[in-house]
Amino acid sequence: MAAQELATLESHQYDVLVIGSGGAGLRAAVQAAAVPGVSVGIIGKSLLGKAHTVMAEGGVAASLGNLDQWDGWETHFYDTMRSGHFINNYRIVEVFAKEAAERVLELEEWGAVFDRTPDGKIMQRPFGAHTFRRLAHIGDRTGMELLRTLQYKAISQNIDVFQEVTVTKLFRDENGAVSGALAYYRATGKFVLFRAKAVVLATGGWGKLYKVTSNSWESTGDGAALAFRIGAELMDMEMVQFHPTGMVWPPGVRGLLVTEGVRGEGGLLYNSEGERFMLTYDPERKELSSRDVVARSIYKEVQAGRGTPHGGAWLDITHRGPEFIKRKLPGMYEQYLTLADVDITKEKFEVAPTCHYTMGGVRVEPETCATNIPGLFAAGEVACGLHGANRLGGNSLADLLVFGRRAGDGALAYIQGRDDVADVPGSEIEAEMQRVLRPFSISQGENPYQIHEDLQEIMSNHAGIVRDQGMLEEGLAKLLELKERAQNMAITGSQVYNPGWHAVFDVQSMLTIAELIFRGALARKESRGAHWRTDYPDELPEMGQWNFVQDLDGDAVRVREVAVPVMPQELAQLFERGMAPGVYASQQQAKEK
Ligand code: FUM
Repeated sequence: MAAQELATLESHQYDVLVIGSGGAGLRAAVQAAAVPGVSVGIIGKSLLGKAHTVMAEGGVAASLGNLDQWDGWETHFYDTMRSGHFINNYRIVEVFAKEAAERVLELEEWGAVFDRTPDGKIMQRPFGAHTFRRLAHIGDRTGMELLRTLQYKAISQNIDVFQEVTVTKLFRDENGAVSGALAYYRATGKFVLFRAKAVVLATGGWGKLYKVTSNSWESTGDGAALAFRIGAELMDMEMVQFHPTGMVWPPGVRGLLVTEGVRGEGGLLYNSEGERFMLTYDPERKELSSRDVVARSIYKEVQAGRGTPHGGAWLDITHRGPEFIKRKLPGMYEQYLTLADVDITKEKFEVAPTCHYTMGGVRVEPETCATNIPGLFAAGEVACGLHGANRLGGNSLADLLVFGRRAGDGALAYIQGRDDVADVPGSEIEAEMQRVLRPFSISQGENPYQIHEDLQEIMSNHAGIVRDQGMLEEGLAKLLELKERAQNMAITGSQVYNPGWHAVFDVQSMLTIAELIFRGALARKESRGAHWRTDYPDELPEMGQWNFVQDLDGDAVRVREVAVPVMPQELAQLFERGMAPGVYASQQQAKEK
């Protein structure tokens, strides 16, 4: 297959180019386009309105205090740091906790139709490890409504939208700043060049590395891999979240998300012996413990032979009655009825952990989401620093609102006074086109789908919910062999509508990311949050001082310990009382009465 002629290459130029059209990307684009005269383009690998954002079903976390007056940013900060096991960047968490409520109210102004309290405020529900009822929601379709609202907002602005376009490379100019991206239209296979003064990455995570996952086909880590290849620093890559409740049966829907909203609305977990096992694992928070704890508890019950017929736990919400369930959890009701022939208003149902979210990602600066590459910004799941070792449910939607906006602002500030868009040398474009087309020229090579399947097998068996040194080392060795095989991926047919060709690129991204997960997991010799090592079962204070940052040293992956930023006294003192600030304040007031 010959590379396209440079002279006929479609080319676009923007002040701000956003890669990724899920919640974070749309919020960044909306922010950047709000300034008159700033040109903004947004690229999505999928169709507009389709993104993993929809899989945050149960709500968006913000301390509005509509039901619990003692909630406030300090308690949201406290919960997020504690659940992240204190390797989060405190400043990122502070900004987040302070701004989340404002971003939710703004979304409401833009048309998001939230569930309501009887007196007309935005309704909030409890979720795991949040001290107060904090998740503003729209039944169990919050992510969908958020995406819809942002999508309408974006298309009402002057933003160019490129749908079903895959970016294969980011370019840097002679000063090291990001200068653009090469991409291709998935439908026609035609290449397209984007030149830009600033680029915002909002490409989401990499849940497709695992066999059982709530993520759909888009989540292959493209953005993180693209950034890594041009020298970006990635951090906390060992931290992969397994949501406790995915569907288990039938096999075709294994991994599909069962919202935490079910437990938030009172759903109870049982083992095959009818025991409510969360009373043992976390007697205080029970089913509303943090995700890492609940997922591990289900895993342990199954290992102990107390699992359900298909290897999970029972979730039961029948006691809330059909009217309530259908009103508050309509998606779950329909999902089980249509996909599993189970009526959750009448019967308990099977659930098991599913890969849901990746806490690691591109290392960013708290105020602007800037990466270490000038002009490159990152927001949402592709970025790192907010969630530490374990993300709280509902914090991802708030994350993409707060930091999508900040990344947009960061990019706007960066382009101030930069009049020219750098050129991308033709030789670099041609070399990239040749690389991307190479699989067409290999006749007897590897099938990309087979490589993906083998990769999922390796990740699920060696870097899943449970880990140890031997398992990780063996997994890394297998992965490196697989990477060798993947050099030789081959495809047939043309560039037009060729899913096999798209799969090659997805697999390349995932292989890059997989190595970083292994290397991070080997470096973190302790158990912390989602990273559970049976050979180091405890959380070690000395390890809690470090984030593991990875970047390229020549062609090799370099892993470095970088000190977790130390909280200033005014934030550190929030943890000294051993209880959430809002709980303390309410107790103080009760004493005074
Ligand atoms: O369970 C859920 O609804 C997922 C929410 C989230 O990941 O934030």
